[in-house]
Parts: sequence; C-alpha cells; structure tokens
Amino acid sequence: MRTREVRLAGPDELVVVETELAEPGPGHVLVRNRWMALGAVMRTLLDGTGPLPGYRVGEPLFGKAVGEVIAGDGAPVGTLVSHGLGWREHAITERFEIVEPGAELRALSSGFVAYGALRAAGLRSGETVYVSSVAGAVGSTAARLAKALGAARVVGSAGTPEKVAALTAAFGYDEAFDRQTETRPADIDVAIDLVGEPPVAAMRPGGRIALVGALAQQLGGATPAPLDLLGVIGRGVTMVGLDLAAHRHLEPEYRTLAVDPPHSVVHGLDAAPDALRGLFAGRFTGLVVITLG
Ligand SMILES: NC(=O)c1ccc[n+]([C@@H]2O[C@H](COP(=O)([O-])OP(=O)(O)OC[C@H]3O[C@@H](n4cnc5c(N)ncnc54)[C@H](OP(=O)(O)O)[C@@H]3O)[C@@H](O)[C@H]2O)c1
Repeated sequence: MRTREVRLAGPDELVVVETELAEPGPGHVLVRNRWMALGAVMRTLLDGTGPLPGYRVGEPLFGKAVGEVIAGDGAPVGTLVSHGLGWREHAITERFEIVEPGAELRALSSGFVAYGALRAAGLRSGETVYVSSVAGAVGSTAARLAKALGAARVVGSAGTPEKVAALTAAFGYDEAFDRQTETRPADIDVAIDLVGEPPVAAMRPGGRIALVGALAQQLGGATPAPLDLLGVIGRGVTMVGLDLAAHRHLEPEYRTLAVDPPHSVVHGLDAAPDALRGLFAGRFTGLVVITLG
C-alpha cells in the first residue's frame, strides 16, 4: 500500500514523499491519520536548537495527530486514537491513546500545557492572571482554564490589533493589549510566560511566574531577555519552569473541564509545509489543525 509523508530534505526544506507502507507488528495499530496539529515548538525541532530531539534530514517530521485504526491488533478497527506520528497520511504505532468521538480537537489541543502551567504556578481563587502572546495554541485556551480554576481577572497580549480583538471577543480574556505598542499590565498574581520575557515588574509581591515558552527567541530570533533579579528578590516572586511530565497526574481533572481549543484549519498534507511557515510568521489564530482526509 502506498502512502505519503512530509520529510525534512535539508535545512528548512520540507518535501512531500510517496512511500510504501509497512505492515503493523504485534501490539501495533495502522492508523489513517485524519487531523494533525502544528506548533511553534516545530521551529526548534527543525533547527535543533531546543531541548527535545529534533527532526532528522531524510526522515518524516512528527507531531500530534488523531486518526482511525484501519488494521493491527493493538485496538479494534474503527477506533479513534491520538499519537505522536503526524506529518504522514498513515502511521504505525504502539503508543497511542483512545479518543472518544467528538473529542478529536481536544486530543490535539495544547490546553493541558496552559492548565499545567496555571497549576504549577499555584493559581488561587480570586487572583489576577497574565498570559503573554496568547493568540497561539496554548494561550488561546488559557483564559477559560484560568477562570475554571477561580481566576478573577485574566489579561493577555498578542502581536496584532486583530488578534487582540479576538482575545476578549472569543477567547475569554477580560483585558487584552498589543505587545508591540503597549506596556505590560500591573498587579499580576500569576503570569504564564510563553514569550521568554518574565514580566517581573508587573507582579504583585509573592507573585508566581510559570516559564513555559520562549516565542521571542523561537520565532522572533531574539536573544534571551535579561532577568530582573533585583525585581524577583524585591517582590518575592517565585519562578517555575514548566516540566509537563511532572504534571501528568492532573490530566483527568483537566479533561473534566472539556475546553475546546480555538483553532484555524488548513486542508491537506500538501498545504502543511506552507502552513508551518505561516505559523512561524504569525499568520494564524489559535491551534493550527491540518486535515488529512
Ligand atoms: N513547556 C512545555 O511543556 C511546552 C509545551 C508546549 C508548548 N510550549 C511552548 O509554549 C509556547 C507557545 O506554544 P504554542 O504551541 O501556543 O505556540 P503557537 O500556537 O505556535 O503560537 C504561535 C504564536 O507565537 C506568536 N509569536 C510569533 N512571533 C512571536 C514573537 N517574536 N514574540 C512573541 N510571540 C510571537 C504568534 O502570535 P502573535 O501573532 O500575536 O505574535 C503566534 O500566535 C512555545 O514557546 C512552545 O514551545 C511549551
């Protein structure tokens, strides 16, 4: 059986390649992928500058996907599963999770990153939360999750006036501002830093900052931001790097919140490489989902 996948052909060069599909081994499933998600982390997987093992030249890319089992003895044919082998029409894997029909988008969502960060920062009822660069996959879910955990006020920033408008109109933020033109808010109890610029001066005494991403470096090519150490000390700010694996036990309670991610849809594997470049350029709002048939 023939199938297609996207491979890394050289630095930043993605090609769609037709190839022969192998047979699934014992305990494996053959999955017809139907959706996959893109993310900023793929920038560092492409250039090998992040902490995770990156994409390799000559091999297919990988990433979150959801599809339907069509063969193999790992799960009944017709079962919907999520796994980490996106960027291909078919995947063979023994590492998958069963997805209930109707929960496909939630299985692709980065909402658990936002939830883990809010819990890692110890968000308490009645507090004010600030999330930086919230137009993407993680940030667009964070306001609803923060409210579900009792936040009284949630503030977000984005890079264009259109995205700023979406934050309050569609994503549940109470206040939003354009990070290119406006200064940061004040009186923050909990900050989720996706940009790599911890907002120390905006924190209330005893505030907590969860360090989750470094978008300004990853997508903007910025040098690491200096840390206001005296501000951290003077305000008694706690900073915690998000190790998502350490928060896996929170997944059941996160799932009960059933927050669907705001998303943008692009159709077809052939369109995926350009969509990824578009994501790096800030062209999309919410989680970027590629339909694969
Ligand atoms: N620690 C973990 O376990 C973990 C897990 C998942 C993700 N992450 C990290 O979390 C961050 C967000 O991930 P994501 O999947 O939500 O990203 P995403 O959906 O790919 O978001 C892309 C967003 O980045 C923004 N952006 C582009 N250039 C920027 C710049 N120079 N400065 C600031 N923002 C910029 C764009 O918004 P604008 O158009 O508004 O600029 C765009 O909406 C990433 O750093 C990712 O690596 C961490």
